Amino acid sequence: MNSFNYKNGKLLVEDVNVSDIAEKIKTPFYCYSLNHLKEQYIRLDESINLEDYEICFSIKSNSNQSIIKTFSKLGSGADVVSIGELKRALKAGIPSKKIVFSGVGKTSEEIRFAIQSDILMFNVESISELKKISKESEYLNVQSNISLRINPDISAGGNEKISTGKAQDKFGIDWKSAIESYDFAANLSGIKIIGIDFHIGSQINQIKPFEESLDLLIGIIGELRKKGHEIKVFDVGGGLGVQYHPEEKPLDINKYGKLLSQKLGALKCKIVIEPGRFLTANSAILVTKIIYVKNTDKNNFLIVDAAMNDFIRPTLYGSYHQIITINEDKKGNLSKYDIVGPVCETGDYFAKKIPIGNVEEEDLLAIKSVGAYGSVLSSNYNTRASINEILVSNDKFEIIRDRIEDEEIISRDKVPDWI
Ligand code: LLP
Repeated sequence: MNSFNYKNGKLLVEDVNVSDIAEKIKTPFYCYSLNHLKEQYIRLDESINLEDYEICFSIKSNSNQSIIKTFSKLGSGADVVSIGELKRALKAGIPSKKIVFSGVGKTSEEIRFAIQSDILMFNVESISELKKISKESEYLNVQSNISLRINPDISAGGNEKISTGKAQDKFGIDWKSAIESYDFAANLSGIKIIGIDFHIGSQINQIKPFEESLDLLIGIIGELRKKGHEIKVFDVGGGLGVQYHPEEKPLDINKYGKLLSQKLGALKCKIVIEPGRFLTANSAILVTKIIYVKNTDKNNFLIVDAAMNDFIRPTLYGSYHQIITINEDKKGNLSKYDIVGPVCETGDYFAKKIPIGNVEEEDLLAIKSVGAYGSVLSSNYNTRASINEILVSNDKFEIIRDRIEDEEIISRDKVPDWI
């Protein structure tokens, strides 16, 4: 069910009128639908037919406590990539034994904290990291559960900045060195091998790259087991694509679920899945106000009060995000506009030459599909505030992140008395 609909010409999030929120909350703000978040989790959960599996929400896509807690209450674990994310996951009530720790640059401090937190496993990305985890584990007198992240040299994902599974990428251990790397790991006294893992990219709309990666890793698991390595957990990463453009064909989640069930059903492994975007992307809009309408010889601009610091995907990845008016566009006088922010860069835009009708200064717009990699990628560039996040559930809404005002941002600067 779509949680963002027009009723009587007004945009609603679930049963709440967006303009009613904007009367109380300063724009711009992120606005989430709780129902959408829950529905996505349940859709994924119901598509999988395996005996033992864990959905570990990749909290880098959205690490707000309310969002993590929503999934935690539905039974989710977490995929984390920093000590900060690990703390967020634990604070939101995710059981430590449902947390996997990924990432190419885990520091000693992060490793120690994760060991002490008793997580499910480290997804290890290099031999150097293996040695570091072993050393820290010996120091704490424990053995740490690990899986090795295998780089299958398979191209996948929405664009090259978010494709992670090619041999030249910084991620994982080359699949050709997988067996020798496991042999090496088995000889480290602080290490306990329990699994294997891959993650090939993000916004993947085709089944094929997943299928090819699964086949490759299933082969490797067979060889590892023959050599006596115990592989009890298979982490198949995230990357599940969603619909951004009305004509985009997203990953068919039932086909994906079926693929996992068919390929992995007989493997005798716990299967871990690390979806981020699939759960959060379409759960939110970014509500922004038009400050000026500016027409030039070459372009018509709507200058809005949100900017690239609030939402960077369009300019960073060239990503498409649908933009709609809060008052339903009657498709009257459509003009083409560039939707841009106040930041002093030509790259500060949300969309180019999109048709929008009957808008005036002070009108509200909604940038869609901003729930994943939206607020988490924001900054205070141009000394702009960190904006509110709002969660809607049926007919109620609440602030789930306070604004950080400019004064607070400035107050963090320190001036030595010798200047
Ligand atoms: N697991 C690992 C190890 C990852 O690196 C990622 C995402 C995920 C899971 C979750 O992937 P998802 O299911 O969300 O596709 N900022 C970019 C996306 C970066 C993805 C990074 N890794 C964007 O806005 O498109």
